[in-house]
Amino acid sequence: MKFALSLLVICAFQHTSLAAPSALTKRLENGLGRTPALGYNNWNNGGCTHATAESALNVANLLISLGLKDAGYTYVNTDDCWSSNSRNSTGHLVPDPTKWPQGIKPVADEIHSMGLKFGLYGDAGIMTCAGYPGSQGHEVQDALTLAEWDVDYWKHDACYLPCGDSGDVPQGCYDPNSSTKPYYGIMRDALAEAGRPIFFSICNWGRDSVWTWGKDYGNSWRMSNDIANNWGSVASIAARAAGIAEYAGPGGFNDLDMLQVGNGGLNENEERAHVGLWAIAKSPLLIGTDLSKLQNSTLNILKNKALIAINQDTLGKAATYFQPAGASAPVDGSLYPYWAGPLSDGVVVGIVASEGAANLSVSFADVPGLGSGSWEWSEAFTGATGEGTGVSADLPAHDMRVYKVSKGTLMYSVR
Ligand SMILES: *[C@@H]1O[C@H](CO)[C@@H](O)[C@H](O)[C@H]1NC(C)=O
Ligand SMILES: *[C@@H]1O[C@H](CO)[C@@H](O)[C@H](O)[C@H]1NC(C)=O
Ligand SMILES: *[C@@H]1O[C@H](CO)[C@@H](O)[C@H](O)[C@H]1NC(C)=O
Ligand SMILES: *[C@@H]1O[C@H](CO)[C@@H](O)[C@H](O)[C@H]1NC(C)=O
Repeated sequence: MKFALSLLVICAFQHTSLAAPSALTKRLENGLGRTPALGYNNWNNGGCTHATAESALNVANLLISLGLKDAGYTYVNTDDCWSSNSRNSTGHLVPDPTKWPQGIKPVADEIHSMGLKFGLYGDAGIMTCAGYPGSQGHEVQDALTLAEWDVDYWKHDACYLPCGDSGDVPQGCYDPNSSTKPYYGIMRDALAEAGRPIFFSICNWGRDSVWTWGKDYGNSWRMSNDIANNWGSVASIAARAAGIAEYAGPGGFNDLDMLQVGNGGLNENEERAHVGLWAIAKSPLLIGTDLSKLQNSTLNILKNKALIAINQDTLGKAATYFQPAGASAPVDGSLYPYWAGPLSDGVVVGIVASEGAANLSVSFADVPGLGSGSWEWSEAFTGATGEGTGVSADLPAHDMRVYKVSKGTLMYSVR
Protein backbone atom coordinates (compact mmCIF):
# COMPACT_ATOMS: atom_id res chain seq x y z
CA MET A 1 0.00 0.00 0.00
CA LYS A 2 2.74 2.38 0.97
CA PHE A 3 4.72 1.44 -2.14
CA ALA A 4 1.75 1.96 -4.44
CA LEU A 5 1.06 5.37 -2.96
CA SER A 6 4.65 6.41 -3.44
CA LEU A 7 4.51 5.46 -7.10
CA LEU A 8 1.40 7.52 -7.56
CA VAL A 9 3.13 10.53 -6.13
CA ILE A 10 6.12 10.15 -8.41
CA CYS A 11 3.93 9.71 -11.48
CA ALA A 12 1.95 12.78 -10.62
CA PHE A 13 5.05 14.88 -10.76
CA GLN A 14 5.91 13.82 -14.28
CA HIS A 15 2.87 15.78 -15.39
CA THR A 16 3.79 19.02 -13.72
CA SER A 17 5.64 21.70 -15.63
CA LEU A 18 7.96 22.33 -12.70
CA ALA A 19 10.71 19.75 -12.42
CA ALA A 20 10.47 17.97 -9.08
CA PRO A 21 13.61 18.98 -7.17
CA SER A 22 13.95 15.44 -5.82
CA ALA A 23 12.09 12.15 -5.95
CA LEU A 24 9.31 12.03 -3.38
CA THR A 25 9.27 8.53 -2.10
CA LYS A 26 8.01 8.76 1.45
CA ARG A 27 4.63 9.40 2.99
CA LEU A 28 4.55 11.38 6.18
CA GLU A 29 3.93 8.73 8.79
CA ASN A 30 4.93 10.43 12.00
CA GLY A 31 2.02 9.29 14.17
CA LEU A 32 1.13 12.90 14.99
CA GLY A 33 -2.05 14.88 14.44
CA ARG A 34 -4.46 11.97 14.89
CA THR A 35 -6.87 14.66 16.10
CA PRO A 36 -6.61 18.38 15.25
CA ALA A 37 -3.77 20.28 16.96
CA LEU A 38 -4.77 22.40 19.97
CA GLY A 39 -2.58 25.22 21.17
CA TYR A 40 -1.41 28.75 20.64
CA ASN A 41 0.33 30.74 17.90
CA ASN A 42 1.50 34.29 18.51
CA TRP A 43 0.92 35.74 15.00
CA ASN A 44 -2.66 37.07 15.30
CA ASN A 45 -1.55 38.96 18.41
CA GLY A 46 0.80 41.56 16.95
CA GLY A 47 2.50 39.71 14.08
CA CYS A 48 6.29 39.93 14.27
CA THR A 49 6.40 41.49 17.72
CA HIS A 50 5.98 38.42 19.92
CA ALA A 51 8.39 35.90 18.37
CA THR A 52 10.47 35.84 21.55
CA ALA A 53 11.44 33.42 24.30
CA GLU A 54 9.79 35.66 26.87
CA SER A 55 6.51 35.61 24.99
CA ALA A 56 6.59 31.82 24.45
CA LEU A 57 7.21 31.23 28.17
CA ASN A 58 4.49 33.71 29.15
CA VAL A 59 2.05 31.90 26.89
CA ALA A 60 3.05 28.54 28.39
CA ASN A 61 2.45 29.85 31.92
CA LEU A 62 -0.89 31.39 30.98
CA LEU A 63 -2.10 28.25 29.20
CA ILE A 64 -1.60 26.50 32.52
CA SER A 65 -2.95 29.17 34.88
CA LEU A 66 -6.05 29.78 32.77
CA GLY A 67 -6.87 26.08 32.60
CA LEU A 68 -6.33 25.96 28.84
CA LYS A 69 -3.67 23.26 29.08
CA ASP A 70 -6.09 21.11 31.06
CA ALA A 71 -8.69 21.77 28.36
CA GLY A 72 -6.25 20.29 25.81
CA TYR A 73 -4.31 23.24 24.37
CA THR A 74 -0.69 22.08 24.39
CA TYR A 75 1.22 23.56 21.43
CA VAL A 76 3.07 26.80 22.12
CA ASN A 77 3.96 27.96 18.61
CA THR A 78 6.17 30.88 17.63
CA ASP A 79 5.51 32.29 14.16
CA ASP A 80 7.65 34.38 11.79
CA CYS A 81 10.48 36.70 12.96
CA TRP A 82 12.17 34.46 15.55
CA SER A 83 15.38 34.03 13.57
CA SER A 84 18.33 36.24 12.73
CA ASN A 85 18.37 38.00 9.38
CA SER A 86 20.82 35.53 7.90
CA ARG A 87 22.14 32.03 8.37
CA ASN A 88 25.51 31.57 10.04
CA SER A 89 28.75 30.55 8.33
CA THR A 90 27.79 26.87 8.39
CA GLY A 91 24.41 27.67 6.83
CA HIS A 92 22.36 27.03 9.95
CA LEU A 93 19.32 28.98 11.05
CA VAL A 94 20.19 31.04 14.11
CA PRO A 95 17.67 32.45 16.59
CA ASP A 96 17.78 36.22 17.02
CA PRO A 97 19.98 36.55 20.15
CA THR A 98 18.02 39.54 21.42
CA LYS A 99 14.77 37.54 21.26
CA TRP A 100 16.20 34.16 22.37
CA PRO A 101 19.16 35.02 24.64
CA GLN A 102 19.63 31.37 25.65
CA GLY A 103 18.83 29.99 22.20
CA ILE A 104 15.87 27.84 21.30
CA LYS A 105 16.56 24.52 23.03
CA PRO A 106 16.47 25.74 26.65
CA VAL A 107 13.08 27.34 25.93
CA ALA A 108 11.77 24.14 24.32
CA ASP A 109 13.10 22.20 27.33
CA GLU A 110 11.33 24.47 29.79
CA ILE A 111 8.07 24.29 27.85
CA HIS A 112 8.37 20.49 27.77
CA SER A 113 8.95 20.43 31.52
CA MET A 114 5.59 22.19 31.86
CA GLY A 115 3.90 19.36 29.97
CA LEU A 116 3.51 21.44 26.81
CA LYS A 117 4.94 21.31 23.28
CA PHE A 118 6.96 23.82 21.32
CA GLY A 119 6.47 24.90 17.70
CA LEU A 120 8.40 27.07 15.24
CA TYR A 121 7.83 28.61 11.84
CA GLY A 122 9.65 28.60 8.52
CA ASP A 123 9.09 28.87 4.82
CA ALA A 124 9.32 26.76 1.68
CA GLY A 125 10.75 29.67 -0.32
CA ILE A 126 14.04 31.54 -0.15
CA MET A 127 12.70 33.89 2.54
CA THR A 128 9.92 33.81 5.11
CA CYS A 129 7.01 36.17 4.56
CA ALA A 130 8.69 38.74 6.82
CA GLY A 131 12.01 38.38 4.98
CA TYR A 132 13.97 36.04 7.28
CA PRO A 133 15.85 33.04 5.84
CA GLY A 134 13.61 30.47 4.13
CA SER A 135 14.33 26.75 4.04
CA GLN A 136 14.56 26.29 0.28
CA GLY A 137 17.78 24.39 -0.42
CA HIS A 138 18.38 23.96 3.34
CA GLU A 139 15.52 21.58 4.15
CA VAL A 140 17.62 18.69 5.46
CA GLN A 141 19.88 20.96 7.48
CA ASP A 142 16.91 22.83 8.95
CA ALA A 143 15.03 19.66 9.85
CA LEU A 144 18.10 18.37 11.68
CA THR A 145 18.43 21.69 13.51
CA LEU A 146 14.78 21.51 14.60
CA ALA A 147 15.25 17.97 15.87
CA GLU A 148 18.38 19.05 17.76
CA TRP A 149 16.40 21.85 19.40
CA ASP A 150 13.57 19.40 20.30
CA VAL A 151 10.98 21.30 18.28
CA ASP A 152 7.59 19.54 18.13
CA TYR A 153 5.72 21.44 15.40
CA TRP A 154 6.85 23.15 12.21
CA LYS A 155 4.68 25.55 10.21
CA HIS A 156 5.99 25.80 6.65
CA ASP A 157 4.81 28.95 4.85
CA ALA A 158 4.82 29.61 1.09
CA CYS A 159 6.28 33.07 0.56
CA TYR A 160 9.09 33.75 -1.93
CA LEU A 161 8.66 30.65 -4.06
CA PRO A 162 9.47 30.95 -7.76
CA CYS A 163 6.71 32.30 -9.97
CA GLY A 164 6.88 29.98 -12.97
CA ASP A 165 8.33 31.13 -16.29
CA SER A 166 8.58 34.76 -15.27
CA GLY A 167 11.48 33.97 -12.96
CA ASP A 168 10.10 36.39 -10.41
CA VAL A 169 10.19 35.51 -6.73
CA PRO A 170 7.54 37.72 -5.15
CA GLN A 171 6.29 37.33 -1.62
CA GLY A 172 3.03 35.71 -2.70
CA CYS A 173 3.02 33.87 -6.04
CA TYR A 174 -0.20 32.83 -7.72
CA ASP A 175 1.11 31.52 -11.05
CA PRO A 176 -1.11 28.46 -11.48
CA ASN A 177 1.69 26.71 -13.41
CA SER A 178 4.10 26.86 -10.49
CA SER A 179 3.19 24.22 -7.93
CA THR A 180 4.07 24.48 -4.25
CA LYS A 181 3.73 20.72 -3.86
CA PRO A 182 7.33 19.58 -4.55
CA TYR A 183 8.70 21.96 -1.91
CA TYR A 184 6.41 20.49 0.74
CA GLY A 185 7.51 17.00 -0.26
CA ILE A 186 11.16 17.88 0.28
CA MET A 187 10.48 19.29 3.73
CA ARG A 188 8.25 16.33 4.63
CA ASP A 189 11.06 13.93 3.75
CA ALA A 190 13.62 16.03 5.61
CA LEU A 191 11.47 16.06 8.76
CA ALA A 192 10.78 12.34 8.48
CA GLU A 193 14.54 11.70 8.44
CA ALA A 194 15.40 14.12 11.23
CA GLY A 195 15.09 11.61 14.05
CA ARG A 196 12.27 13.29 15.95
CA PRO A 197 8.54 13.25 15.23
CA ILE A 198 7.73 16.83 14.21
CA PHE A 199 4.17 17.89 13.37
CA PHE A 200 4.25 19.24 9.81
CA SER A 201 1.87 22.16 9.29
CA ILE A 202 1.55 23.02 5.59
CA CYS A 203 0.79 26.69 5.01
CA ASN A 204 0.38 27.27 1.27
CA TRP A 205 -2.91 29.17 1.67
CA GLY A 206 -4.94 26.52 -0.13
CA ARG A 207 -2.90 26.68 -3.34
CA ASP A 208 -2.71 23.68 -5.67
CA SER A 209 -5.87 22.18 -4.10
CA VAL A 210 -3.67 21.19 -1.17
CA TRP A 211 -6.55 19.32 0.51
CA THR A 212 -6.34 16.67 -2.23
CA TRP A 213 -2.72 15.80 -1.41
CA GLY A 214 -2.06 17.33 2.00
CA LYS A 215 -2.64 14.09 3.89
CA ASP A 216 0.34 12.45 2.18
CA TYR A 217 2.53 15.45 2.97
CA GLY A 218 1.61 16.95 6.32
CA ASN A 219 -0.48 16.78 9.47
CA SER A 220 -2.57 19.83 8.52
CA TRP A 221 -2.85 22.23 5.63
CA ARG A 222 -4.10 25.78 5.43
CA MET A 223 -6.97 25.84 2.94
CA SER A 224 -7.44 29.61 2.53
CA ASN A 225 -5.72 32.96 2.63
CA ASP A 226 -4.94 34.39 6.06
CA ILE A 227 -7.88 34.91 8.38
CA ALA A 228 -8.74 38.55 9.14
CA ASN A 229 -10.15 39.89 12.38
CA ASN A 230 -13.76 40.20 11.22
CA TRP A 231 -16.91 38.15 10.74
CA GLY A 232 -16.78 38.25 6.92
CA SER A 233 -13.43 36.47 6.94
CA VAL A 234 -14.57 33.85 9.45
CA ALA A 235 -17.74 33.18 7.44
CA SER A 236 -15.99 32.90 4.08
CA ILE A 237 -13.31 30.50 5.37
CA ALA A 238 -15.96 28.30 7.01
CA ALA A 239 -18.01 28.30 3.79
CA ARG A 240 -14.97 27.13 1.86
CA ALA A 241 -14.17 24.44 4.44
CA ALA A 242 -17.65 22.96 4.03
CA GLY A 243 -16.73 22.02 0.45
CA ILE A 244 -13.60 20.08 1.38
CA ALA A 245 -14.73 18.31 4.57
CA GLU A 246 -14.19 14.88 3.01
CA TYR A 247 -10.39 15.35 2.96
CA ALA A 248 -10.03 15.59 6.75
CA GLY A 249 -9.07 12.50 8.73
CA PRO A 250 -6.83 11.25 11.52
CA GLY A 251 -3.26 12.35 10.77
CA GLY A 252 -4.23 15.19 8.39
CA PHE A 253 -6.77 17.99 8.75
CA ASN A 254 -7.96 21.07 6.91
CA ASP A 255 -6.48 24.07 8.75
CA LEU A 256 -8.94 26.98 8.74
CA ASP A 257 -6.21 29.24 10.22
CA MET A 258 -5.48 30.55 13.68
CA LEU A 259 -8.33 31.81 15.84
CA GLN A 260 -9.15 35.51 16.08
CA VAL A 261 -11.26 35.27 19.24
CA GLY A 262 -10.19 37.82 21.84
CA ASN A 263 -8.89 40.30 19.28
CA GLY A 264 -11.88 42.65 19.32
CA GLY A 265 -13.18 42.16 15.79
CA LEU A 266 -15.92 39.69 16.73
CA ASN A 267 -18.74 40.02 19.24
CA GLU A 268 -19.51 37.21 21.68
CA ASN A 269 -22.03 35.56 19.34
CA GLU A 270 -19.50 35.64 16.52
CA GLU A 271 -16.77 34.24 18.77
CA ARG A 272 -19.04 31.29 19.59
CA ALA A 273 -19.67 30.67 15.91
CA HIS A 274 -15.98 31.07 15.00
CA VAL A 275 -14.80 28.46 17.50
CA GLY A 276 -17.88 26.32 16.92
CA LEU A 277 -17.39 26.17 13.15
CA TRP A 278 -13.63 25.52 13.45
CA ALA A 279 -14.32 22.79 15.99
CA ILE A 280 -16.87 20.86 13.92
CA ALA A 281 -14.84 21.35 10.72
CA LYS A 282 -12.03 19.59 12.63
CA SER A 283 -9.62 22.46 12.19
CA PRO A 284 -6.63 22.88 14.47
CA LEU A 285 -7.62 25.32 17.22
CA LEU A 286 -4.68 27.66 17.70
CA ILE A 287 -5.45 30.57 19.99
CA GLY A 288 -4.02 33.86 18.72
CA THR A 289 -4.73 36.56 21.25
CA ASP A 290 -3.15 38.18 24.31
CA LEU A 291 -3.93 35.58 26.98
CA SER A 292 -3.29 38.07 29.80
CA LYS A 293 -6.28 40.14 28.62
CA LEU A 294 -8.80 37.40 27.85
CA GLN A 295 -12.45 38.16 28.60
CA ASN A 296 -14.25 35.47 30.58
CA SER A 297 -16.68 34.98 27.71
CA THR A 298 -13.83 34.20 25.29
CA LEU A 299 -12.07 31.95 27.78
CA ASN A 300 -15.28 30.01 28.40
CA ILE A 301 -15.78 29.46 24.67
CA LEU A 302 -12.19 28.23 24.29
CA LYS A 303 -12.48 25.91 27.29
CA ASN A 304 -15.87 24.49 26.31
CA LYS A 305 -15.44 20.80 27.11
CA ALA A 306 -18.26 19.53 24.91
CA LEU A 307 -16.97 21.47 21.91
CA ILE A 308 -13.38 20.34 22.36
CA ALA A 309 -14.53 16.74 22.72
CA ILE A 310 -16.31 17.04 19.37
CA ASN A 311 -13.20 18.57 17.75
CA GLN A 312 -10.99 15.85 19.24
CA ASP A 313 -13.33 12.94 18.46
CA THR A 314 -11.22 9.96 17.39
CA LEU A 315 -13.18 9.41 14.18
CA GLY A 316 -11.69 12.65 12.80
CA LYS A 317 -14.46 13.34 10.26
CA ALA A 318 -15.26 16.96 9.49
CA ALA A 319 -18.84 18.27 9.45
CA THR A 320 -20.24 19.85 6.32
CA TYR A 321 -23.52 21.34 5.06
CA PHE A 322 -26.76 19.43 4.86
CA GLN A 323 -29.95 20.83 3.36
CA PRO A 324 -33.09 20.43 5.47
CA ALA A 325 -36.37 19.78 3.65
CA GLY A 326 -37.86 23.12 2.65
CA ALA A 327 -34.64 25.11 3.15
CA SER A 328 -33.03 26.88 0.23
CA ALA A 329 -29.85 25.32 -1.15
CA PRO A 330 -26.38 26.52 -0.11
CA VAL A 331 -24.92 29.28 -2.27
CA ASP A 332 -21.26 28.87 -3.22
CA GLY A 333 -19.06 31.13 -1.10
CA SER A 334 -21.78 32.01 1.44
CA LEU A 335 -21.98 30.55 4.91
CA TYR A 336 -24.97 28.20 5.19
CA PRO A 337 -26.82 27.70 8.51
CA TYR A 338 -27.02 23.88 8.59
CA TRP A 339 -24.04 21.61 9.34
CA ALA A 340 -23.67 17.98 10.37
CA GLY A 341 -20.99 15.33 10.60
CA PRO A 342 -20.34 11.90 12.07
CA LEU A 343 -18.78 11.31 15.49
CA SER A 344 -17.47 8.06 16.89
CA ASP A 345 -20.49 7.96 19.23
CA GLY A 346 -23.16 10.01 17.48
CA VAL A 347 -23.62 12.90 15.09
CA VAL A 348 -22.79 16.59 15.49
CA VAL A 349 -25.34 19.09 14.24
CA GLY A 350 -24.39 22.77 13.99
CA ILE A 351 -26.73 25.65 13.28
CA VAL A 352 -25.46 29.16 12.70
CA ALA A 353 -27.43 32.37 12.15
CA SER A 354 -25.25 33.21 9.17
CA GLU A 355 -27.32 36.03 7.65
CA GLY A 356 -28.89 37.61 10.74
CA ALA A 357 -31.09 36.84 13.72
CA ALA A 358 -33.11 33.72 12.99
CA ASN A 359 -35.16 30.99 14.57
CA LEU A 360 -33.50 27.93 13.10
CA SER A 361 -34.95 24.43 13.34
CA VAL A 362 -33.57 21.05 12.43
CA SER A 363 -35.57 17.86 12.12
CA PHE A 364 -33.28 14.92 12.84
CA ALA A 365 -34.99 13.03 10.01
CA ASP A 366 -33.19 15.42 7.59
CA VAL A 367 -29.72 14.93 9.09
CA PRO A 368 -27.26 12.53 7.43
CA GLY A 369 -26.52 9.74 9.90
CA LEU A 370 -29.71 10.34 11.90
CA GLY A 371 -33.28 9.66 10.84
CA SER A 372 -36.86 9.68 12.03
CA GLY A 373 -37.67 8.80 15.60
CA SER A 374 -36.51 10.16 18.89
CA TRP A 375 -32.89 11.06 19.62
CA GLU A 376 -31.05 12.32 22.66
CA TRP A 377 -29.17 15.58 22.28
CA SER A 378 -26.99 17.95 24.27
CA GLU A 379 -25.96 21.46 23.25
CA ALA A 380 -22.36 22.56 23.77
CA PHE A 381 -22.76 26.30 24.55
CA THR A 382 -25.92 26.34 26.70
CA GLY A 383 -25.51 22.90 28.27
CA ALA A 384 -29.14 22.20 27.40
CA THR A 385 -30.11 18.57 26.90
CA GLY A 386 -33.23 16.93 25.56
CA GLU A 387 -34.79 14.13 23.63
CA GLY A 388 -36.98 14.36 20.55
CA THR A 389 -37.24 14.44 16.78
CA GLY A 390 -35.39 17.72 16.33
CA VAL A 391 -34.06 20.94 17.82
CA SER A 392 -34.65 24.64 17.30
CA ALA A 393 -32.91 27.76 18.51
CA ASP A 394 -33.83 31.41 18.32
CA LEU A 395 -30.43 32.96 17.61
CA PRO A 396 -29.13 36.51 17.39
CA ALA A 397 -27.12 37.34 14.26
CA HIS A 398 -24.03 35.16 13.76
CA ASP A 399 -24.58 33.08 16.88
CA MET A 400 -24.28 29.30 16.81
CA ARG A 401 -25.45 26.17 18.57
CA VAL A 402 -23.65 22.83 18.40
CA TYR A 403 -25.61 19.68 19.25
CA LYS A 404 -24.30 16.23 19.87
CA VAL A 405 -27.05 13.80 18.93
CA SER A 406 -27.15 10.10 19.72
CA LYS A 407 -29.27 7.20 20.81
CA GLY A 408 -27.95 7.39 24.34
CA THR A 409 -28.73 3.91 25.58
CA LEU A 410 -27.71 2.25 22.33
CA MET A 411 -24.43 4.11 22.36
CA TYR A 412 -23.46 2.78 25.77
CA SER A 413 -24.69 -0.76 25.19
CA VAL A 414 -22.41 -1.02 22.15
CA ARG A 415 -19.32 -0.30 24.24
C1 LIG B 1 25.53 27.84 13.34
O1 LIG B 1 24.29 27.67 14.05
C2 LIG B 1 24.08 26.36 14.52
C3 LIG B 1 22.67 26.27 15.11
O2 LIG B 1 22.07 27.51 15.26
C4 LIG B 1 25.16 25.99 15.50
O3 LIG B 1 24.97 24.68 15.96
C5 LIG B 1 26.52 26.11 14.81
O4 LIG B 1 27.53 25.84 15.74
C6 LIG B 1 26.68 27.49 14.23
N1 LIG B 1 27.90 27.54 13.47
C7 LIG B 1 28.82 28.45 13.69
C8 LIG B 1 30.00 28.40 12.81
O5 LIG B 1 28.70 29.31 14.55
C1 LIG C 1 0.48 27.94 -17.95
O1 LIG C 1 0.64 26.83 -18.80
C2 LIG C 1 -0.23 26.82 -19.90
C3 LIG C 1 -0.08 25.49 -20.63
O2 LIG C 1 1.26 25.13 -20.73
C4 LIG C 1 0.07 28.03 -20.78
O3 LIG C 1 -0.80 28.06 -21.91
C5 LIG C 1 -0.10 29.30 -19.97
O4 LIG C 1 0.31 30.42 -20.72
C6 LIG C 1 0.75 29.24 -18.70
N1 LIG C 1 0.42 30.37 -17.85
C7 LIG C 1 1.37 31.13 -17.30
C8 LIG C 1 0.86 32.24 -16.43
O5 LIG C 1 2.54 30.93 -17.44
C1 LIG D 1 -14.32 36.00 35.39
O1 LIG D 1 -14.30 34.74 35.98
C2 LIG D 1 -13.64 34.70 37.21
C3 LIG D 1 -13.53 33.25 37.64
O2 LIG D 1 -14.74 32.57 37.42
C4 LIG D 1 -14.37 35.58 38.22
O3 LIG D 1 -13.70 35.57 39.44
C5 LIG D 1 -14.42 36.98 37.67
O4 LIG D 1 -15.21 37.80 38.52
C6 LIG D 1 -15.04 37.01 36.29
N1 LIG D 1 -14.93 38.34 35.72
C7 LIG D 1 -15.93 38.93 35.15
C8 LIG D 1 -15.66 40.30 34.60
O5 LIG D 1 -17.02 38.43 35.01
C1 LIG E 1 -38.80 28.60 16.71
O1 LIG E 1 -39.29 27.63 15.84
C2 LIG E 1 -39.78 26.46 16.47
C3 LIG E 1 -40.11 25.44 15.41
O2 LIG E 1 -40.78 26.03 14.33
C4 LIG E 1 -40.95 26.82 17.37
O3 LIG E 1 -41.39 25.68 18.04
C5 LIG E 1 -40.51 27.87 18.36
O4 LIG E 1 -41.61 28.31 19.13
C6 LIG E 1 -39.89 29.06 17.66
N1 LIG E 1 -39.34 29.96 18.65
C7 LIG E 1 -39.56 31.26 18.63
C8 LIG E 1 -38.93 32.06 19.74
O5 LIG E 1 -40.22 31.80 17.76
